[in-house]
Amino acid sequence: MTSPLILGLESSCDDTAAALLRGRDVLASVVLGQTQLHAEFGGVVPEIAARAHAERLDGAIEQALDEAKVTLPDIDAIAVTAGPGLIGGVLSGVMMAKGLSTGLGKPLIGVNHLAGHALTPRLTDSLTYPYLMLLVSGGHCQFLVVRSAQDFTRLGGTIDDAPGEAFDKTARLLGLPQPGGPSVEHVARNGDEKRFRFPRPLLDRAGCDLSFSGLKTALLRQRDQLIAEKSGLTEQDRNDMCAGFQAAVRDVLAEKTRRAIALYLAESPAEPALAVAGGVAANMALRTVLESVCADSSIRFTAPPLKLCTDNAAMIAYAGSELFAAGITDDMTLSARPRWPL
Ligand code: KG4
Ligand code: ZN
Repeated sequence: MTSPLILGLESSCDDTAAALLRGRDVLASVVLGQTQLHAEFGGVVPEIAARAHAERLDGAIEQALDEAKVTLPDIDAIAVTAGPGLIGGVLSGVMMAKGLSTGLGKPLIGVNHLAGHALTPRLTDSLTYPYLMLLVSGGHCQFLVVRSAQDFTRLGGTIDDAPGEAFDKTARLLGLPQPGGPSVEHVARNGDEKRFRFPRPLLDRAGCDLSFSGLKTALLRQRDQLIAEKSGLTEQDRNDMCAGFQAAVRDVLAEKTRRAIALYLAESPAEPALAVAGGVAANMALRTVLESVCADSSIRFTAPPLKLCTDNAAMIAYAGSELFAAGITDDMTLSARPRWPL
């Protein structure tokens, strides 16, 4: 029997995405980013995002159908991000999915965006449950034990900023281009991570919670001190600050990951593995340290390819396909949930 063809829709932040999935085959994954639309505002503007999603969802779906060489009636079920996220965007996606579900007479499946990220390693790497997930993006940072498509245990997470947000703020403070993660990582390669002192927040506190807002404050203080002393920043100053900041993020994530692994291994999982997802998973300094932390504990390390790590609709279609296989669908009462913890 062939696997059902699932249409996935994602519109919870600043990417309008549509994907078609059959089994583990991503037949199409279209992501229309909005970085340019928000660039001049220094962050995502919810009203602009919502309008752009409403205008672009149709086109994203058409493009996905074209790429997959299928037509709307071929679709067996529609999976849509129903939260958490910016309410206007989530509503656009949910309304579109309800319209398609009614028009085509096909089931509707509401998917938690975080579950989409957390299940992606099963799409790309066939991980078996339970596995440990570190989700690190511009909006999220948490450790999850993933037990099924509906069963997640949160071991800890950030109590303030997400690491991607901290990278973005660092870039802004140092006049580097957005998104901040790649630009900070790039210049950090030529920097001395020991020149400036950055705190390692919450390392003295037990457990897996993290904090990143203090790093931004430390950076601001050191930057302003340098500017006062020398009336400007040199390229080397910038490189060294980025290297110091990135090393602090890396060290904190590495130590908290060690603790999360210890908690997870206490359950004696059959095939122990750590998967990392979210945009910050692209960071090579972080990946390298996580690989060695996993090697120390003799557990497998995996990271989905970047285009499936950052926001996309294939992950929503995949999470939807697991829910669908478990007989879980929604009806027209499905609502958009701006807050929806796993
Ligand atoms: O997962 P994502 O595309 O969107 C959400 O936040 O949901 O993640 C985007 C975040 C941005 O904050 C970006 O600066 C960060 O991921 N990022 C990185 C790198 N590439 C992207 N952070 C650190 N190093 C990178 N190489
Ligand atoms: Zn996301």
